[in-house]
Amino acid sequence: MPLFGFGRPALPFPHPWNYRDPLKIFETFYCGAEKATGSGKHNRYLYVAGFPPVLLSRDPGIIKAVLGATGDKPGQFDRDTSPTRGIARATGEDSLLYSNGEIWRRQKRLSAEPFSRSNLFQPEKFHGFEQTFRQTVAERLGALRSRQQASGEKVIRIELEPEIKVVMLEMLVNNFFGGRVSYEELRERFVPGLVFLIDHMVSDTVAPITQALSRMLTGRHAILKQKQADFEILTDIALSGRLEGLGLWSQFKSDATDEALRSNIRVFLAGAMEATTSFASWAISHLSHAPHIQEQIYEEVKDMSVYDPNNLASAATLNRVLEETLRLTPALYFLPRRATVDTWVETADHRKMLIPKGTHVRLDVWHANRCEEFWGKAVTGYPAEAFAPERWEVLAKKGITSRDMLHFGFGHGPRFCPGRFLGLLEVGLVVGAVVKIFKFKAVGERTEARAGVSTKPGDGVLVDLELRS
Ligand code: HEM
Repeated sequence: MPLFGFGRPALPFPHPWNYRDPLKIFETFYCGAEKATGSGKHNRYLYVAGFPPVLLSRDPGIIKAVLGATGDKPGQFDRDTSPTRGIARATGEDSLLYSNGEIWRRQKRLSAEPFSRSNLFQPEKFHGFEQTFRQTVAERLGALRSRQQASGEKVIRIELEPEIKVVMLEMLVNNFFGGRVSYEELRERFVPGLVFLIDHMVSDTVAPITQALSRMLTGRHAILKQKQADFEILTDIALSGRLEGLGLWSQFKSDATDEALRSNIRVFLAGAMEATTSFASWAISHLSHAPHIQEQIYEEVKDMSVYDPNNLASAATLNRVLEETLRLTPALYFLPRRATVDTWVETADHRKMLIPKGTHVRLDVWHANRCEEFWGKAVTGYPAEAFAPERWEVLAKKGITSRDMLHFGFGHGPRFCPGRFLGLLEVGLVVGAVVKIFKFKAVGERTEARAGVSTKPGDGVLVDLELRS
């Protein structure tokens, strides 16, 4: 595709004036794509003299093939670190998220056991976490309930995303890492600090020099230093449970020093809060436009007092809502890769594509999952751009599962998300508990997406909230 063109939503690369709208940058790649035939319809190359090529793909077959061929073996794709430089500067270069090759392999081995399905979803261990998670969620929603009762109003208007963020960080820091931070301190100090830093990570990736200059001129430099210091304190708190074997630490067997674990802990704290908040916020946002689905979930959870793996599995609508949420509005909207050598990739239906060495590959999950050709009416019974959990029932009747129809909500292949089971547990609990206590209705007719490190509902999940009687 050419670098410039008329009538496009943005320039096809991030710069200081458009980087806050990355979904528009990606959209630009598909301008005129409908006229392309063959693989050019969904796989778009940008060549600029003197720079390595950029390949954007919304082709699920290619996305799957590239993800499957990513790893530490010679000739495999690396995770492209260029879109996450700001994250690395804030969290460390040797984290599981940022590193490649041998360091990545070592970090992956270290985190495998505590995050595994067999660990988290084994009934005994699950109960341990589930009880503490549930207590946390119940306390926070109890506070929200009291706020509503005290207001004397039947309905209160509220942005739910900020509330969700605190609960998510609380579950991570206190329940998962065994820390002891008060709700007030999380809310007033650590959550705003992380939000500031996450925003900084994005601008620090796109325009590090202009950002640094503007910080110096506006006095924001001192604020950044303060937030970074708070982040280190939170990391110390998460690590402090290790000696006593609190929370997840009881499952962690390694002689790695605390220092060697710091980058990963920082990534888990910032990344997991961001991803789980995105996931839960989108699920609640979608439900706020679909009262009838809220009622179906309510019927499933109203008498559920224990959320064990069997109970959760039996909540079919809730599970379909979570699946559909990740499909339509994935937290991570693109997965970056880099070809380390000239690489032929082959899709399951035997299409082949050569990706030249050095290519920056952007696997555009957001647009792949909204493409009518792959997810539309003809395939799933519902338009691709609609939130329709029922499509999973249609697919199931055809004998197709989410393993066959990949939406890449947790990635795929060797660099698959290690926090998947933890995230699903947390988000399932929060969404189930909110539906059990409240009815909620979106204030706006449509909710637009905003995207930074992850995607979020543009209105902060602004809803009219009503207590169930
Ligand atoms: C529930 C919400 C979550 C979603 C939707 C999510 C999504 C993802 C996705 C799509 C990837 C793949 C990235 C890629 O292939 O480039 C990923 C990787 C990762 N996730 Fe998650 N994640 C979630 C929760 C978590 C949690 C709770 C943690 C940790 C506590 C976590 C830690 C990580 C790490 C460290 C990686 C990098 C793994 C590697 O490169 O080997 N995530 N996540």
